[in-house]
Amino acid sequence: MTSLSPKKTIAVIVGTRPEAIKLAPVIRSLQASKTLQPLTISTSQHAEMTAQIFSSFGITPDLDLRVMRPRQSLWDLTALLSTSLGELFNGNRIDAVVVQGDTTSAFVGGLCAFYHKIPVAHVEAGLRSHDRYSPFPEELNRVMLSRLANWHFAPTDFSASLLRAENIPEDSIFVSGNTVVDALQWMISHSTPSHLPAGVPENPQLILVTCHRRENIGAPMRSVALAIKHLSAMHPEIHFLFPLHPNPSVRENVRPVLVDQPGISLCEPLNHDEFLSALRQSRFVLSDSGGVQEEATALGKPVLVLRRETERPEGVTAGTLRLIGTDVQDIIRETENLLTNPAAYESMTNGSNVFGDGHAAEHITRILEEKLNPPAPARASEPRIAAFDLMH
Ligand code: UD1
Ligand code: UDP
Repeated sequence: MTSLSPKKTIAVIVGTRPEAIKLAPVIRSLQASKTLQPLTISTSQHAEMTAQIFSSFGITPDLDLRVMRPRQSLWDLTALLSTSLGELFNGNRIDAVVVQGDTTSAFVGGLCAFYHKIPVAHVEAGLRSHDRYSPFPEELNRVMLSRLANWHFAPTDFSASLLRAENIPEDSIFVSGNTVVDALQWMISHSTPSHLPAGVPENPQLILVTCHRRENIGAPMRSVALAIKHLSAMHPEIHFLFPLHPNPSVRENVRPVLVDQPGISLCEPLNHDEFLSALRQSRFVLSDSGGVQEEATALGKPVLVLRRETERPEGVTAGTLRLIGTDVQDIIRETENLLTNPAAYESMTNGSNVFGDGHAAEHITRILEEKLNPPAPARASEPRIAAFDLMH
């Protein structure tokens, strides 16, 4: 894989669905650069879901490390990623590595780049819950990436301030906006609105649901499913659409409670254009997803967040997100409130560009161009004092 191009090679590491979505605009922007070229490395931590997203964005990875195994432990995944990425970086000319967010692919990508003394650019830097076990293991993945990275692309002023509070050097922090907004705008302008999946009635009062976080697997996820079942029985006018994450542990908790229930559609993960279409047609969202919180904020769709904390407080301040946790009664109460209290609902629909203006990827590429192609240093002027000294 030796490159003869004079352009600098930027390895972009993509492991999971949200990384594929949030790095697609960066890959496209690097493809348009005069001095940089992307090398898109899919680790396939998520196999089916990243393939789906790459195809939606028209991106073909240059390499696929195929690390996904069924029911893989974090330590096995870490070991496989480390061996594969370590070998890849060894002996190939890679001028910088781009990682995104807080997944195991991102963390190990940053670590292996460091072992090879390749500079690391961290996209979506500075998010913090300040709870090491929630989200798990993401909180520590991103904290460790902040130690490993050379350049930190913070989505907001707030995330930049959290990096400064951890003594990350000021001249390595760049507020770029979140690339999720670039991806959202691109997908909306490059696709036609999709039909809702089969089984979802025409013109329903739609509530979109996603739930996948490790810390919600088990009792919290069953509690979410139970709340949805109750709500559906109480409100036949509404329809729940719940695309299921492929993680078998998610399905084992959700399907037994909700399968074949009237008013509830469980489905496979939707293509990104289909998901955004469903989001735009929905009345509101129940979700523990990070990316969905950002997209819904950009679109002005209320989200009842199935978590007790968020590393995206900007969306709470903007009014779109409300943290409700996973207790059955809390979910029922908060959902009923949005269904029956128009003022409460309206107050969450304003939308906000707090997560970005859609130009984050351009910004990131421009900074990388500057960092990797520094202007030639001006020729040093003659050492006049030394010459003067010699004369005397
Ligand atoms: C991962 C990330 C999480 C991110 C989420 C996005 C880590 C530790 N976690 O969590 O930060 O929010 O992705 O969705 O990096 N699986 C499939 N097919 C797929 C994808 C996953 O079968 O397309 C299975 C895997 O085999 C695995 C399980 O789902 O057994 C969990 O996948 P994993 O990547 O370990 O963690 P996620 O919970 O998906
Ligand atoms: N998404 C999708 N299809 C689906 C569900 C989600 O394309 O069926 C997209 C969604 O628009 C968002 C991203 O997946 O951009 C969020 O990924 P996920 O919830 O898996 O991870 P997180 O953001 O929580 O890390």
